[in-house]
Amino acid sequence: MKILVTGGLGFIGSHTVVALQKKGYEVVIVDNLSNSSLKVLDGITLITSKTPHFEKLDLRDKLEVNSFFKKHNDINGVIHFAASKAVGESVENPLLYYENNLASLAYLLQNLVQLKEQNIIFSSSCTVYGEADELPISEEAPVKKAMSPYGNTKQIGEEIIIDSCAAHQHLKAISLRYFNPIGAHPTAHIGELPLGTPQNLVPFITQTAIGKRKELSVFGDDYPTEDGTCIRDYIHVMDLAEAHVVALERIMHSKDNASFEVFNVGTGIGSSVLEVIQAFENASHEKLNYKIVDRRAGDVIAAFADTQKANEVLGWKAQRSLEQALKDAWEWEKTQVNT
Ligand code: NAD
Ligand code: WQD
Repeated sequence: MKILVTGGLGFIGSHTVVALQKKGYEVVIVDNLSNSSLKVLDGITLITSKTPHFEKLDLRDKLEVNSFFKKHNDINGVIHFAASKAVGESVENPLLYYENNLASLAYLLQNLVQLKEQNIIFSSSCTVYGEADELPISEEAPVKKAMSPYGNTKQIGEEIIIDSCAAHQHLKAISLRYFNPIGAHPTAHIGELPLGTPQNLVPFITQTAIGKRKELSVFGDDYPTEDGTCIRDYIHVMDLAEAHVVALERIMHSKDNASFEVFNVGTGIGSSVLEVIQAFENASHEKLNYKIVDRRAGDVIAAFADTQKANEVLGWKAQRSLEQALKDAWEWEKTQVNT
């Protein structure tokens, strides 16, 4: 089975390539290296003893995408990670986000529907739920007006796929709505590589602990939660990677499912920012320098997943703890000292 992984050198993509290769799949990666490095291929090779086929390709280049699919017309499934993902940048440059996240998706689908096997897993996000009315958040929760162009690209991306499934009888898709992916492969050969100052909590924590940042700012302690800080569902990136393999197997092998399905991918456990800091200190035996500052604009108070559908229908459940994820993130950070 030959699987195309777009954005396969990125954070979640590279871990998913490892999970696919461990299960014997032949992987083809395309990536334009806009937010990743070729060194990631070495990490994947070290872990799996196999180097995936890699082609540098920008999915915004329609003609290049067409010629890629002419060469690789025997692909059995696609996992589509390639996208830009910085919420703040998307507010400043929305058109970049609409082009990179949506034009690329259209080109990919135009080619996919020409293939014999038309299976796609789409990277969506819990951001589509906004501030949900009920917790935990199930797939039935309404999609709220997006708070950023980035979030809007995930909502529109799902709609593009729904419309395409309705029009193309053989197209099958699963949209995975990730909660907060963190951590790294336990070997520390691959991990998260944020460009510049990290926007996300866990890379900011590990960079502070290693001394690259002076201190972590905790954005607000006056939220209506037990300790006043926001609550999220942090999922180990290897658990998330394995969810992709299971989802892909579902659409490749089953005949009677709806052509488009959505699954939340989280642990079902909500952790506050202060709880994450405490868990990091326990896992790393490091003391973290942090201070409480004002709230960050656009943050929802609390988001964690109802995982029942993924548990029962996909037969998948997150296995790794928050502390394990933070320990793996820390081991990875220590390999990045001179970078
Ligand atoms: P990432 O930036 O590490 O990986 C994305 C990869 O896609 C990068 O290697 C980048 O170089 C590549 N890419 C971007 N535009 C491209 C293009 N036009 N052509 C070819 N390659 C291109 O991001 P990630 O954290 O691994 O996220 C993967 C996917 O998951 C994205 O779609 C993201 O929106 C989604 N997602 C991420 C999170 C998160 O917190 N990391 C949460 C929810 C959803
Ligand atoms: C987590 C918590 C912050 C940094 C974002 C995107 C979302 C999704 C995942 C892709 C929040 C707090 C953070 C810091 C802090 N990506 N925090 N100090 O905001 O849940 O989601 O990434 O789809 O779309 O919006 O994740 O890691 O930025 O923040 O106190 O320096 O940590 O306020 O409560 P978030 P995050």
